[in-house]
Amino acid sequence: MDKQSSKLLPDGFAAFENQVAGHNLKDGRSPTGILKSADGFVLKPVTKHPQSETEIAFYENIFIKNEYACFRPFVPEFKGTTVLNILGLDITFLKLQDITKGYVKPCVMDVKIGSQTWDPNATESKRKTEDEKYQLSKKEFGFCIPGYQVYNLSSGSFNRMGKEQGRMLDKITLPLALKGFLNVNFHQSAFLIERFLQRLNAILDMWKTQKEVHIYSSSLLFAYDAHQLELFKTESSGVTPCWMNIMMIDFAHVVPACNTLDMNYISGLTNLIKLLQEIKSGK
Ligand SMILES: Nc1ncnc2c1ncn2[C@@H]1O[C@H](COP(=O)(O)OP(=O)(O)O)[C@@H](O)[C@H]1O
Ligand SMILES: [Mg+2]
Repeated sequence: MDKQSSKLLPDGFAAFENQVAGHNLKDGRSPTGILKSADGFVLKPVTKHPQSETEIAFYENIFIKNEYACFRPFVPEFKGTTVLNILGLDITFLKLQDITKGYVKPCVMDVKIGSQTWDPNATESKRKTEDEKYQLSKKEFGFCIPGYQVYNLSSGSFNRMGKEQGRMLDKITLPLALKGFLNVNFHQSAFLIERFLQRLNAILDMWKTQKEVHIYSSSLLFAYDAHQLELFKTESSGVTPCWMNIMMIDFAHVVPACNTLDMNYISGLTNLIKLLQEIKSGK
């Protein structure tokens, strides 16, 4: 939804300018795309059934059930659902913490985890179409990058990569895209990568123990503020600053784990960590 169409939204709501992937208004797969509210949250429209209900139930479980408590530190705050009337239509939205809130030069990357992106209930044709998407990345790395935006600190301008480019990424070009997102030519990027690795390792530790659910086609949303990275001088404490974060998002495909580990997620995440470690050591 662009600025023009934002005028059609109820007062206090606008198009969310930091959406880098997922269903959007332009591809006709979402009635609105992601919106933002005046009180600083993002609104994700309910688009598909039963996938949207699965996502809502998962967020509710995380904040209610003890078995799901391990996910709490790694997902955006969930404020329930809200209904907006847009052009005469009642549309339900999930209300979520905005990971990029307050960022001046927001850098955001959506990394979809797992070489299998269909859930076990998917039809044969869904399995086939999913397997055809992001084939090279998923085969090589067990994850793919549907989109990102980065403020390039060398050129002083934003670069964006959408799903068309994302789908072409391979063994050679995916690491280059990752390096671009991380502003690797900037001297302080080492600090950023180090903190991202700490966060990813904490998420991996959780996955190595939880046997409640398996999650398909879910993403890790990387975010940092290039403005703060530019200003950043020395590492003053062990605390990770609020201008960088990684959160798990997109829970349309959550199934019971039957007391087994989710090796599809674990192996994709392990490979992502390995690649970041290689980038950190200058490979
Ligand atoms: N909590 C959030 N904070 C900031 N951006 C978000 C948040 N949730 C989603 N987004 C943005 O919207 C995009 C699509 O969200 P996602 O939940 O993956 O939707 P879809 O089900 O359409 O794939 C993400 O890639 C990200 O850019
Ligand atoms: Mg998504």
